[in-house]
Amino acid sequence: ISLKPYNTFGMEVKARYFATFSSVAELQQLLQLPEVQNLPKLILGGGSNILFTQDFDGVILKNDILGIRITDLTDDFSLVKAGSGVNWHELVLYTIEQGLGGLENLSLIPGTVGAAPLQNIGAYGVELKDMFENLEAVHISTGELKSFTAEECKFGYRESIFKHEAKGQYIIVSVTLRLHRKPVFNTSYGAITQTLAAMQVENLNPKVISEAVCQIRRSKLPDPAQVGNAGSFFKNPEIPSTQFAELQKEYSTIPSYPTSPGRVKVPAGWLIEQAGWKGRRFESYGVHKDQALVLVNYGGAQGTQVRELAFQIIDSVQEKFGIQLQPEVNIL
Ligand code: EPU
Repeated sequence: ISLKPYNTFGMEVKARYFATFSSVAELQQLLQLPEVQNLPKLILGGGSNILFTQDFDGVILKNDILGIRITDLTDDFSLVKAGSGVNWHELVLYTIEQGLGGLENLSLIPGTVGAAPLQNIGAYGVELKDMFENLEAVHISTGELKSFTAEECKFGYRESIFKHEAKGQYIIVSVTLRLHRKPVFNTSYGAITQTLAAMQVENLNPKVISEAVCQIRRSKLPDPAQVGNAGSFFKNPEIPSTQFAELQKEYSTIPSYPTSPGRVKVPAGWLIEQAGWKGRRFESYGVHKDQALVLVNYGGAQGTQVRELAFQIIDSVQEKFGIQLQPEVNIL
């Protein structure tokens, strides 16, 4: 089966087996099949954070667990439990329609609910972990259902336990979030402040913030339905403040965000742009013209070509700034 429709980079690769599951019971049954037990497995949600560089000689398990349930907790909070196969942006829109706040800054992030905790998705000053209550996951080798609290997920910047100790061991089946019935807004991120001002918004509400976020993302980030991509290809690197001070002497406009004491995060997009890569195109693939952090497949590129481009960018940023970029996308 061709995986082209199942990865937003639009890479033309094949998988040996492909199965979908739409409930926990169906998933547990699948996990007992010998073909599934004996071959490598890959769980696919929206396929929006993966770069295939070769055919997959194993079983693709496509997550199709749907459903959203809201329970009011107190006057201030509601719990929202969503199936891991739900499209993330649909969940965001649904909760906003129900008058709940918290997810508006995370509008239009590609992918599914189940993929969100894996890399603790974040945008415009908000991360999934800020609203996270718990998740349920099926253990692949025993089939048991286990619940994880936020603490157990060990969330970090684009990080969780599911990318480390628990990698490849669990399949997330539902995520429960704690959302605000009396919304609290986070509009401090520069681009949001500016866009809201340009929209001449008088009364803030989750819907209008969501619209602002959609506007910003559409203006900078390519729509995977039109041009193959997987969002930010690299993570924003964190470096010691001392190294940053040295760089500032040579590059006075270098931007940064403070993280922990003694460390700062530098936008990888800026580093890549300064190294001369922004908008560069090599026939069928290249670096996006409006956001250097995004690598694109204009159609027909090979995963290996995009990977090679990523390595060249890493080398060139290392050479120019002495900073080692790391891919954010899962390269397979
Ligand atoms: N910049 C440049 N050139 C570029 C891109 C960015 O100079 O080509 C500089 C600008 O100075 C800009 C700064 O970088 O002010 C920050 O850019 P932007 O607001 O676009 O955010 P980012 O740091 O590049 C991160 C996330 C995005 C998320 C945005 C908004 C990572 C790896 N990326 O990008 O997440 O949408 O912030 O919060 O943390 C994703 O993970 O797929 C993703 C798109």
